[in-house]
Amino acid sequence: MSTNQDSFKKIISHAKEYGFIFQSSEIYDGLSAVYDYAHNGVELKNNIKKYWWASMVQMNDNIVGLDSSILMHPTTWKASGHVDAFNDPLIDNKDSKLRYRADVLIEDYITKIETKINKEITRAKKRFGDSFDENQFRDTNPRVLENQKKIDNAISVMKKCFDDDDLVSLKQLIEDLEIVDPVSGSKNWTDIKQFNLMFSTSIGASSESASEIYLRPETAQGIFVNFLNVQKSSRKKIPFGIAQIGKAFRNEIIARQFIFRMREFEQMEMQFFVKPGTQSDWYEQWKQNRIKWHKALKLGDDNYRFHDHDKLAHYADAACDIEFNFPFGFKELEGIHSRTDFDLSQHEQYSGKKLRYFDPEINESYIPYVVETSIGLDRMFLAVLSSSFCEEKLEDNNSRTVLKIPDFLAPYKLAVLPLVKKDGLSELATKIFDNLKVHYNVAYDEKDAVGRRYRRQDAIGTPICLTVDHDSAKNDTVTLRFRDSMEQIRVPISEIKNEIDKRTSLHNWLS
Ligand code: GAP
Repeated sequence: MSTNQDSFKKIISHAKEYGFIFQSSEIYDGLSAVYDYAHNGVELKNNIKKYWWASMVQMNDNIVGLDSSILMHPTTWKASGHVDAFNDPLIDNKDSKLRYRADVLIEDYITKIETKINKEITRAKKRFGDSFDENQFRDTNPRVLENQKKIDNAISVMKKCFDDDDLVSLKQLIEDLEIVDPVSGSKNWTDIKQFNLMFSTSIGASSESASEIYLRPETAQGIFVNFLNVQKSSRKKIPFGIAQIGKAFRNEIIARQFIFRMREFEQMEMQFFVKPGTQSDWYEQWKQNRIKWHKALKLGDDNYRFHDHDKLAHYADAACDIEFNFPFGFKELEGIHSRTDFDLSQHEQYSGKKLRYFDPEINESYIPYVVETSIGLDRMFLAVLSSSFCEEKLEDNNSRTVLKIPDFLAPYKLAVLPLVKKDGLSELATKIFDNLKVHYNVAYDEKDAVGRRYRRQDAIGTPICLTVDHDSAKNDTVTLRFRDSMEQIRVPISEIKNEIDKRTSLHNWLS
């Protein structure tokens, strides 16, 4: 296992231990690729949303917000192309008559080999005792290496099959890996057929009158179908944009990388409506605008790169991803797509309603072209979490785990810590806490030695710890200790709010 995989595992367990992310329905053994955001996670997630919304909607007078519903008229998805072309591969066993997802069969095969590797490691651990070095064992043991090669090969061939949309080779992979039906043990497989990624449910009171509808697989269509309503009611002139944050649902094929690929996730999307012929300029502008937004977070400029799409979707005339260097390598964080007039034209055709803009400058009506920016909120969360996670050796030979989250995104801006509970320090600290909590999310902690309390706040990324000590009551000052530098300064109580604003506020960041 590489160091990156090690650190990814640590990040996942840190996220659970410190209340950022839990597996959904864990007591029932979880639901694959579905996660819950815990008390610290929801604060970080909300702060990321606020940052995106403020920089998209608040800072751009030609972009307005929207919150459209998850359930939409089923024809929406016919018009958008999702009913016909948003698919996954299914395979049947001819003997057992059971149906499987081709990717799940391959994933199960991989899990079995992983189990073999883990058994080898457990045996070796017993044999070598304290001197056992797991990384070295994984890098040198021939059986582990051979099994790891099988896993890597299966993943890479499977990925290629999906990239090339090659179901014949995917079936061949199942045969080459000698995968058997888990129930009958038979290798008698049918060809693979596509199945749709959208989750469906039914709407209506009785089984006779109920009809099938879908949970939206992207938020964008809610924007397209509302285009004219928003344009008329907001009186915006082209070019203008509509932004929204909301849940999307996909019955994903490969759901292996924590919150990177989920079945229920959130998107932050913005559709920018422009005059036909101007779309490539706007596409370039939005590319630059979005990369600047990412880099402003200072998670490391080298962690971002553009990936231009070679194969364009039929409705796009240009598209790229902003990729982030996640613990498992560079992967898509945000998509920027020049979607032409495809979506509005389709909705015009399927609904029979005109979706055109009358342009007073040229005295003509037209279907606007669209440049889309679409970022997964959960992927953004993972980018922030994984790049902020640090294990540091300290001068006194102790170590600490610290989340160096950008200050204005941190779940708590400040933690108030009385040095001891007695001598009136708790009372003074509570007073300070009560005054500040109306402005920010503030933590209060008076349990254990102050050093341990600092570590707890470091581990959840609190940028400032405020300590109330015996001098505080005498001279109205407190100590502020900063998470990253661990530097401490003394400030008057009257100055605390200024200091916190200066260092942690979103409006300072935006301006
Ligand atoms: N409206 C365009 C659209 O939905 P997409 O590339 O399919 O395009 C946009 O998705 C973004 O949504 C991706 O860049 C990614 O950040 C996020 N995303 C897509 N599928 C996801 C999943 N299963 N889990 C988490 N995030 C996902």
